[in-house]
Amino acid sequence: TEVELTEADYGLDGFADYMRKEIGDQPEAMRRALLGRLDSRFSTAHLGGLRLDPRELRSIRRVKFLGCGSAYYAGQIGANLVEELARLPADAEPASEFRYRDPVVDPETLYVAVSQSGETADTLAAVQELTRKGGRVIGAVNVVGSAIARECGSGVFLHAGPEVSVASTKAVTNMSTCFAMLALLLGRVRDLSVADGRRIVAALDALPRRVEEVFETEEVVADAARRFAGARHMFFVGRVRGWPVAREGAQKLKEISYVHAEAYQAGELKHGPIALIDSGMPSVVIVPDDELLVKNIGTMEQIKARGGPVIAVTNATLPEGLADAELRVPRTEPELDPILFGIPLQLLAYHLATELGRDIDKPRNLAKSVTVE
Ligand code: G6P
Repeated sequence: TEVELTEADYGLDGFADYMRKEIGDQPEAMRRALLGRLDSRFSTAHLGGLRLDPRELRSIRRVKFLGCGSAYYAGQIGANLVEELARLPADAEPASEFRYRDPVVDPETLYVAVSQSGETADTLAAVQELTRKGGRVIGAVNVVGSAIARECGSGVFLHAGPEVSVASTKAVTNMSTCFAMLALLLGRVRDLSVADGRRIVAALDALPRRVEEVFETEEVVADAARRFAGARHMFFVGRVRGWPVAREGAQKLKEISYVHAEAYQAGELKHGPIALIDSGMPSVVIVPDDELLVKNIGTMEQIKARGGPVIAVTNATLPEGLADAELRVPRTEPELDPILFGIPLQLLAYHLATELGRDIDKPRNLAKSVTVE
């Protein structure tokens, strides 16, 4: 499959900064990631770059995602997708930890090194550690020809196009999109049914259009950003599928607005952090319309009962008056919700940082890729 980049991939294209431009690139970037990889005949995905035949795919007993920063959070979304669709145990770990803890390398685990740049020193070192110990490692990398892509030798390219903004947006979205395809493939060589496979293939195929729909409600997000721009601290709360989404949302806000943001699993709030909730501590709550909806409504009620403002990010119908602001997300299949839910959070961070007059593309103390320790 040929993936061609055009002039529009490099310029600002009329936008004030690269971050907003790249947020807007996402439908097109996602189409590139999906191009030629969805198989509706057999309800699976083709990821030829993995260089793993069905028998090798079947021999994998576990999947571990390794990355830093947003790539680590995307890996956590990937781990959830692999567990859900392929019913294989999976997890994610920061590559910066993995490389130093003399990890037990399991020959039946598929390791996935996740990196936009392909140059992050900690992730590269994790790959080298794996290779040295005979681990099976593939890359999930955006930049073709980068150090991590070369070191891995096989994997899945993200095809997000060049990403300039320090805060990663389209690369992160394409990471989780590619992990949905990896999970689908691993599932379909196992027990994922044709019907479920078909459901996921159709939803992935339609996903770029759903991303476009998110932009239709951007004014609502910008309005919420203006209303809450005075907060000095913010919670991001989600459970299970929503947990890595909350972490990535908090990360984005910290990176570009310098507002102190903490992500918590919804169920853990009551074990400590709820002590911090008052009228000056808004919570962004991830509320997908799935089997945990009632639990998440309960979480919002607990926050409200302590005077905390709630910004709900949701595709569900919520009880009247529960949320102080509602950021609407289009519907897809529940397993794919985390991919879409990330996008209003990017916009929230962006508009909040803009409101505070931050330098969006050059946040202090941060680099686009960290090639030193
Ligand atoms: C830096 C960037 C982060 C990014 C991380 C991993 O810290 O500021 O935005 O998520 O590196 O980068 P990578 O290129 O490996 O995805």
